[in-house]
Amino acid sequence: MCDSCKEKFYITTPIYYPSDKLHIGHTYCTVATDTMARYKRLRGCDVMFLTGTDEHGQKIEDKAKAAGVTPKQFVDNIVTGEKGVLDLWKLMNISYDRFIRTTDDYHVEAVQRIFKKMYEKGDIYKGTYKGMYCTPCESFWTESQLKDGKCPDCGRECQPAEEEAYFFRLSKYAAPVRKLLTETDFLEPRSRVNEMVNNFIDPGLEDLCVSRTSFTWGIPVDFDPGHVVYVWVDALFNYTTALGFLNDKYDDYGKYWPADVHFVGKEIVRFHSIVWPAMLMSMEMPLPKKVYGHGWLLLDGGKMSKSKGNVVDPYLLAERYGTDALRFFLLRSFPFGSDGNFSNELLISCINTDLANDLGNLVSRTVAMVQKYFGGKLPVEQEYDAALDDALVQAAGSLRARYETQMEHFAFQNALSEIFTVVSRANKYIDETAPWILAKDESKRPRLACVMYHLLETVRICAGLLRPFMPDTTEEIMKRIGAACSDWDSLGSFGGLARDAEVTAGPALFPRIDAEKELAALEALTEKPQVPQEDPLPEPLPPVSFDDFCKVEMTVVKVLTCEKVKKSEKLLKFTLDDGTGTPRQILSGIAKFYEPEALLGKTLVAVTNLPPRKMMGQESCGMLLSAERGDKLNLVMLDDTIPAGSRLV
Ligand code: MSP
Repeated sequence: MCDSCKEKFYITTPIYYPSDKLHIGHTYCTVATDTMARYKRLRGCDVMFLTGTDEHGQKIEDKAKAAGVTPKQFVDNIVTGEKGVLDLWKLMNISYDRFIRTTDDYHVEAVQRIFKKMYEKGDIYKGTYKGMYCTPCESFWTESQLKDGKCPDCGRECQPAEEEAYFFRLSKYAAPVRKLLTETDFLEPRSRVNEMVNNFIDPGLEDLCVSRTSFTWGIPVDFDPGHVVYVWVDALFNYTTALGFLNDKYDDYGKYWPADVHFVGKEIVRFHSIVWPAMLMSMEMPLPKKVYGHGWLLLDGGKMSKSKGNVVDPYLLAERYGTDALRFFLLRSFPFGSDGNFSNELLISCINTDLANDLGNLVSRTVAMVQKYFGGKLPVEQEYDAALDDALVQAAGSLRARYETQMEHFAFQNALSEIFTVVSRANKYIDETAPWILAKDESKRPRLACVMYHLLETVRICAGLLRPFMPDTTEEIMKRIGAACSDWDSLGSFGGLARDAEVTAGPALFPRIDAEKELAALEALTEKPQVPQEDPLPEPLPPVSFDDFCKVEMTVVKVLTCEKVKKSEKLLKFTLDDGTGTPRQILSGIAKFYEPEALLGKTLVAVTNLPPRKMMGQESCGMLLSAERGDKLNLVMLDDTIPAGSRLV
């Protein structure tokens, strides 16, 4: 097939957030995407497989600050450093065609152009954002969307946020997006459609805040300095900028867009099935053909996350069992659309049962018998026995069609079940035909050769269809059975092998694991949930009289201005409205913990009857109250309904 006649297939993973090293949960989606990409290549498609990293946002800025490095240095380390994202994809044998980093210049410039286009069209406008913000998820929420007061996605605390911001007219696209979800196959599995429609669209889609001013680590809105583009807008358009949309770096947008499928985890289906199509509609760009929201890999029933300390290390597992076994396990053990509970027991039993016992045994027994009975090379003269052979020939010959149906629906687990049904059938065929008995009778050699040939052909078809899941091992299997050809066409029936195929033996493909020993070893090696180490409680203070306590004047103040004190790393200088009409100046040693702009307008508490004192040559009239423990500090903040000058009692 010539390149221009090939059917194109454009598939993407979410671009990963490099705030921590990736864990096995992250590899799940990428392994699935890689398997799909390899399957489509096997089918002869012209595949574009995109992955990458989503490198902006407040969380990265905060983490970099805590680590004492710039945000770019921070993400560089997690993306390109040792055991970083790129290393992990190498380890997992991920055959991506392109890798995008959202800090790449071409992407930054393209996003600025995109933002401006939507602004000029009137779909982005300026307003004030007031609501809640979940920093770990980089998500805005209204009070009513919170679940028990916490982020509905990750269950963590949200912070109140109020700032001048640009908004995208998401509400304008509610009807066409609803139609897209309910009347087409755009979003799968279908169960996710109800969730989107019932929880987000029907209660009323609000316009989406698409710029931030309280931090700087993002793509600047070039026509309004101070604003950075909301990280999700920046991130979603990666799927098009990586093809060259509104930039000169690449030239494949016309060829590959729209995407055939975006694979995404279930918690980001909302962004991909509501926000993303709405923005594309605004840009008048074609919509992706499909979004598939897969389930999570859980550990002890909960989502893995570095902050919970319950992550499973893919390096550890791949080193012990091999990349292919790990890839196989992920897609064999859980249905792609639902959540699945990871456990070491399940992993070991999957390797022992499917790979060591069933597939590994079939290959090694077959190759060993061809060697033992025929010196490694089959004779051409063979004798067919319909009563015994038809069932296997039929099962293996029709496998490709059943496999294809499942793969086209991203039902990896079912596709593998189809293959392993045939593997089991072939193992049974060995028992039924009893080659060791045939071998005793010289006149049965043509019959024995035919049995061996059928086994080799079954192995060839199964290994050929397993190739997208386990690329290296299946190549080795093909070598051992002497198969020169394993393209898609050859996998639809027997006949791909020469009648006089020649085999080569080798070590066990999947050595059986001693489960008990191995579980104990893993237990000792696996990262244990880290109990956060609190700094010790401060020493108790001697009692004070109530009268003495009442002598401390604690006043509600509002921040009018706040700036860093020149030549001081520690001090911030505040002018505060304390209700008297005369601004009060206070210096506070909290520069390490707060950006001055983030405190503007905040309602704080100050001790206002302390004698003034000089710090770095400037007068400080009072002290701001804050709580401190170890390396953490929080200013005492009240909500803005209480007027300046009110007293704390
Ligand atoms: N940066 C965004 C995606 C932007 S796409 C335009 C993001 N990044 S992420 O690193 O937090 O997550 C990347 C993917 O990993 C998501 O699809 C997420 O669902 C997936 N997973 C993270 N932990 C997972 C499991 N434990 N199990 C399965 N997938 C999980 O979201």
